[in-house]
Amino acid sequence: MQRSAMQAEDLEVLDLAVDLASQAGAIQRQRYETDFDVHTKSASIDLVTEVDRECEALIVEGLQAVRPDDAVLAEEGSGRDHDESPWRWLIDPLDGTTNYAHGFPRFCVSIGVEYRGTRRVGVVYDPLLDELFYSARGAGAWLGERKLSVSTTVDFGEALVATGFAYDVHKSQDDNLARFAQVLKAARGIRRDGSAALDLCYVAAGRLDAYWEFKLHAWDVAAGCLMVEEAGGRVSNSVGGPVPAAGDEIVATNSLLHAAILAQMKT
Ligand code: IPD
Ligand code: CA
Ligand code: CA
Repeated sequence: MQRSAMQAEDLEVLDLAVDLASQAGAIQRQRYETDFDVHTKSASIDLVTEVDRECEALIVEGLQAVRPDDAVLAEEGSGRDHDESPWRWLIDPLDGTTNYAHGFPRFCVSIGVEYRGTRRVGVVYDPLLDELFYSARGAGAWLGERKLSVSTTVDFGEALVATGFAYDVHKSQDDNLARFAQVLKAARGIRRDGSAALDLCYVAAGRLDAYWEFKLHAWDVAAGCLMVEEAGGRVSNSVGGPVPAAGDEIVATNSLLHAAILAQMKT
């Protein structure tokens, strides 16, 4: 990343996000496959572990120490409103909790930062692979030293696509299954790996050609959306408009496949 071309405060925010994500990732690595408490939240399949909470506390306390005036939205509830602050941090302390609880090695820390409602900085850290994805508006998306670019796939039949299912899937009729079946029959392959933030980074890195999901939250997508955009991809809602602020509807592609996957979203 060309740090000299970046504004001082963007750099400060990026460095802090990288530091906090790295520290939280280190906790996840240490506690992985050890004994930890697991509780349920909105449904019996919606889990939270003590590691989620420990990581969130570390990040939110770290922010409080250095940037106490910034607003914070954090998944496990320890955020703070600061209506006058132009900066807002959106934190998913452990994205992929079901995987983490089962010892399935795919999870990460996700930190997105907005300035006056515009995505400005994104950091996603996968502690087991030691992969640090980071982006800043206008400065590209990066994986370590490598600048990321989305794939060049133009044919939906050659696309590797990912999605996910919400925690109300046992009860809701609006369960994403019809779209899943449709894309399964049309694309080269489909994945459900259980971490929305990593799915978005993988679109940015060209490892996936497209990704969609419904009923997510702002903290799931805040960092990943900027990553995709800065890698030359496109993010939208399911009809091609902006991704809602709540993050609850997202389609992300290499941009070349955007129209094709939007067509698949009509069920
Ligand atoms: C979940 C993951 C999963 C997605 C779920 C999310 P969590 O986040 O990103 O891939 O399908 O909808 O809620 O609960 O592990 O932070
Ligand atoms: Ca999440
Ligand atoms: Ca989480």
